Amino acid sequence: MNIAIITGSGGLIGAEAVRFFSNKGFEIIGIDNDMRRIFFGDEASTAWSQKKLESEIANYTHYSEDIRDKTAMKKIFEKYNNDIKLIIHTAAQPSHDWAAKDPFTDFTVNANGTLTLLELTRQYCPHAVFIFTSTNKVYGDTPNNLPLVELETRWEIDESHPYYKNGIDESMNIDQTKHSLFGASKLAADILVQEYGKYFNMKTVCFRAGCLTGPGHSSTELHGFLAYLMKCAVVGKHYTIFGYKGKQVRDNLHSYDLVNAFWEFYKNPRVGEVYNIGGSRHSNCSVIEAIKMCEEISGRKMHYCYSDRNRIGDHIWWISNVNKFRSHYSNWGYKYDIKSILIEIEKNFRNMNIHE
Ligand SMILES: NC(=O)c1ccc[n+]([C@@H]2O[C@H](COP(=O)([O-])OP(=O)(O)OC[C@H]3O[C@@H](n4cnc5c(N)ncnc54)[C@H](O)[C@@H]3O)[C@@H](O)[C@H]2O)c1
Repeated sequence: MNIAIITGSGGLIGAEAVRFFSNKGFEIIGIDNDMRRIFFGDEASTAWSQKKLESEIANYTHYSEDIRDKTAMKKIFEKYNNDIKLIIHTAAQPSHDWAAKDPFTDFTVNANGTLTLLELTRQYCPHAVFIFTSTNKVYGDTPNNLPLVELETRWEIDESHPYYKNGIDESMNIDQTKHSLFGASKLAADILVQEYGKYFNMKTVCFRAGCLTGPGHSSTELHGFLAYLMKCAVVGKHYTIFGYKGKQVRDNLHSYDLVNAFWEFYKNPRVGEVYNIGGSRHSNCSVIEAIKMCEEISGRKMHYCYSDRNRIGDHIWWISNVNKFRSHYSNWGYKYDIKSILIEIEKNFRNMNIHE
């Protein structure tokens, strides 16, 4: 039997991974305690997603447990043992702003939770592939020191810079920078994931993602940028742009394209790897460009205002260079770009018939 353990299985990436890997014939063990509701309130609960998975996916078993609970995690690993071929670890506290409110919860979920899962993998299924959803915030605010130029609707890196053509690669320094507490807890986890590869020769990988998105996001103001923006457009909800004139650039990757990258890695795993992954030059936008696209796609004028106060740790310009991953896994490519992502999200909200 091939078992995949997927933590954060009700979340954007977790739920996409459940569907994808169940289609590939895996028995799926999902772990999610709907902590997203505790972080961000009812609007962000992923209970709906969990229920959907349980009703739609025959080979799915859900455990409503906390990844910090070592006893509960041990029971799961003990039970499935060497049948576990894959661990996809997506459960996390995902917001900068929230982390500063409760650093202990943030750190224990993001760092200690990851350590617990790594150590149980080592003890019970050391040959399994361990995939960790890391973040570009491990580079802190170092990208903000790049030579940026202001264009009409976005910040852009100076054309003479080596990052101009393909974006920021894995050689960027992770040290001596402001990460935010969220970035620090994710970096601690990222280093541990690398170390279990390098030290114990396990098949571990960190995907350092830019913005991840898709209709499966239980979006809210503090997390889930594109889906939240489109939600505001569709329901006529007010949106606040925080800092940088709304010209900050993010690259956006559909959850499907990320999970498809997991599949490529699983088929031909490496040890202690690190990849930047994101929409790259292929799929990106500034906040004000995204607002314009949301208006065009939804056919509705958005209500928004501007606050001078930028989010601490926010990147002014981030484009992921995905060439390292592509050079190792040449089968992988994008199914979505920014426009097709937004069209899909809008359609999903319209079908849900949601109101403010
Ligand atoms: N969404 C993004 O833009 C983005 C960008 C870069 C990296 N990431 C990383 O990717 C991963 C997945 O992101 P996402 O957008 O799918 O997040 P998400 O919040 O949609 O999903 C995470 C899930 O984990 C669950 N969870 C949280 N703490 C838990 C705990 N202690 N025990 C059990 N379950 C718990 C939540 O209830 C939620 O359902 C995260 O690790 C995040 O840091 C996300």
